[in-house]
Amino acid sequence: MNKTNPFKFGNIVSGDFFYNRENELLRIKQTLAGGNNITLYAPRRFGKSSLVNKALKELEEEGFTTVYLDIMSIYSRDTFIKNYTRAIAGKQSASLEKTIKKIAKFISGIVPSVAFDSTGMPTFSLSWIEGKDKEQTLMDVINLPEKLAGDNSKWIIAFDEFQEITKLNGDNFEKLLRSCIQHHQNVSYLFLGSKTHILKDMFSNKNRAFYNAAAIMSINTIEESKSIKYLISRFKRSDTEIDNDTAKYLLQTAGNIPYYIQYIAFEIWQNIILSDKNRITTKHIDEAVERVLELKSDYYWELTHKHTSYRKKVLFALSQSASELFSKKTTKDFDLGAVSSTQKAIDVFINDGIIERNQSKYDFSDPIYKKFINRYL
Ligand SMILES: Nc1ncnc2c1ncn2[C@@H]1O[C@H](COP(=O)(O)OP(=O)(O)O)[C@@H](O)[C@H]1O
Ligand SMILES: [Mg+2]
Repeated sequence: MNKTNPFKFGNIVSGDFFYNRENELLRIKQTLAGGNNITLYAPRRFGKSSLVNKALKELEEEGFTTVYLDIMSIYSRDTFIKNYTRAIAGKQSASLEKTIKKIAKFISGIVPSVAFDSTGMPTFSLSWIEGKDKEQTLMDVINLPEKLAGDNSKWIIAFDEFQEITKLNGDNFEKLLRSCIQHHQNVSYLFLGSKTHILKDMFSNKNRAFYNAAAIMSINTIEESKSIKYLISRFKRSDTEIDNDTAKYLLQTAGNIPYYIQYIAFEIWQNIILSDKNRITTKHIDEAVERVLELKSDYYWELTHKHTSYRKKVLFALSQSASELFSKKTTKDFDLGAVSSTQKAIDVFINDGIIERNQSKYDFSDPIYKKFINRYL
């Protein structure tokens, strides 16, 4: 019997923790391999980063050089320059010294060098040359993949949480990036992110620098039948059984969102393995959800308390009657004010990532937080 938890949640999953997404994978790979750019958007925790990393890995196996950069961790132009250069340098198969020479040739304004990390391993490091034009340095870095690719290799670059570049001096950075990469012949770009409304605006608003710069694609939750099959087979590895209907109940509880499916399944496994049971029931699922809710309750309170009492009322109303938030009845039942005030509150929640908009419907992005609000507000 297998004693390691067959479920995993948090960040990027790979190997046999990853399932489904065959069609999306194919489409991403073909678009990029064909030399086109692509924008991929979906709410948080739907599995974008995992999917993209799998695509990059497979493209790498097919001979492409791929670079992945998460913009979430970048808070200034300087960190962009440093982290991006380092990510690109890491893709060079030549010795570190050779790589450093090569990079120094293409980028003005920085001095790359070898440093040693805490374990004594040589790593790539860089320092600034005083008085050099930072904007030119930035452009040199952006153009680095095209220079390194030359005419006999193809590069693919993925910028995760791409909408966050608006933090780096907004407009100007966006324009600079676009103006450079539009000349790249040997590099395809993948822009992905969770803030759907911002990303959509960046790529489909005529007044934005990235207007029409990429094919737009989104991913949905995973098809129910595929998830059921996966759950059944994963539990089976530890001689544990879950039947079709119970698996379906788990998926409903998780709002079908990949992260919450894994999180709840992880908790169930953890508990059942300690008991003498080997058949999962809906009771096990409810208990797992309760544990997650308890574990996260400090965080949930924090998330809730920073909002005004009006916004709290809106959250509560949404947790009870999501589909009719703006109806007269909801307004009366939950003591809400003008539609415009409620809409404003919703916009704040969307910006925070608490609420997702799906077509014209709103719902919580975290089904367990929804339960929490429903119970405690
Ligand atoms: N294809 C998948 N197979 C299995 N689990 C997945 C898959 N996609 C996402 N997940 C689950 O969701 C979590 C978040 O995935 P991630 O790729 O970070 O999503 P996103 O980038 O959209 O926020 C993963 O840690 C994993 O638990
Ligand atoms: Mg991600």
